[in-house]
Amino acid sequence: MNTQETGAIAVFGGTGQQGGAVVDALLARGARVRALVRSPDSDRAQALATRGVELSAVRIDDPATTVAALKAVDAFYFMTPEANSLEEVEEEVRVGAALVDAAAAARVPHVVFNSVFGADRETGVPHHDSKHRIEEYLELSGLRATMVRPTAFMENFATVMAPSVEDGTIVLRLPLPDDIALKMISIKDIGQVAASILLGTADVPGGAVEVIGDELTGSRIAAAFGAHAGLPARYEALPLSVLGNDLDKAMFRQFAEASEYPSDLAAVRAIEPSTRDLAEWIRSTGWTAPTDLVRS
Ligand SMILES: NC(=O)c1ccc[n+]([C@@H]2O[C@H](COP(=O)([O-])OP(=O)(O)OC[C@H]3O[C@@H](n4cnc5c(N)ncnc54)[C@H](OP(=O)(O)O)[C@@H]3O)[C@@H](O)[C@H]2O)c1
Repeated sequence: MNTQETGAIAVFGGTGQQGGAVVDALLARGARVRALVRSPDSDRAQALATRGVELSAVRIDDPATTVAALKAVDAFYFMTPEANSLEEVEEEVRVGAALVDAAAAARVPHVVFNSVFGADRETGVPHHDSKHRIEEYLELSGLRATMVRPTAFMENFATVMAPSVEDGTIVLRLPLPDDIALKMISIKDIGQVAASILLGTADVPGGAVEVIGDELTGSRIAAAFGAHAGLPARYEALPLSVLGNDLDKAMFRQFAEASEYPSDLAAVRAIEPSTRDLAEWIRSTGWTAPTDLVRS
């Protein structure tokens, strides 16, 4: 393990979804990547190592490890872990602040923080305001910083927001009124955008970009899945009360309010012209309609 060479891009979260996409995009462009990992022996870390990624073992509670891992890198990308409770929100801020402190101590030339859309302001969404606090902390550090602010993952339509097929019709149900356009991006494209910024091939005026590939109402999302499957489609807006978690309730309330803000679609396409819209994401992932739930 060598942490003293120059020319590497450091990535925190490389064994996860977004950080993994950043690693993929960097490797595809021939960059040297150093992943900051807590468990170098884990299967995911070892899978990175076999692809030529340098592993640097870090412990957030031990600044010497993170500072050493960031020595002499050209740029540093970090995301912060998922928070599902107010306690985890505080932990998220702690992790983010520790990484900023380490980057400052190691004099990293450029830090890219994978934040969330809307984090330029307080929104009342605890796990978004946490990222706003980290952005503020990063700005105060004096480091050169770029905020990459992803919108909702398109991949959620393959898991927690998946449409169903009922009596031959694609049905999408979300706790979002149908006159609201949901902003979204594929995780792979977050990686492409972040890699361009890390490698300095993209200019980000103002030092922040909302990472968005599409914005569609529930009916139009359902229609995109229906068009792909060759089935009729409908959308049903659900009340926020279907959500069990207060953080999720606050987030979906914010999704509705955030659609009033102008989007950065054009800016993202200027950075990465191949950024996919939802129809392209559905095609490119080979999505197939789930088994029909015949009710009649
Ligand atoms: N879901 C959405 O639609 C959406 C949209 C925008 C933003 N976000 C935000 O995206 C973030 C989650 O991103 P993701 O899905 O890419 O996360 P993920 O797949 O769960 O990956 C988390 C990464 O963080 C690493 N990690 C966590 N704690 C660590 C520690 N103490 N030391 C070292 N490494 C640590 C994990 O390493 P290990 O492999 O060791 O566990 C893993 O690499 C959340 O902050 C969420 O709010 C989500």
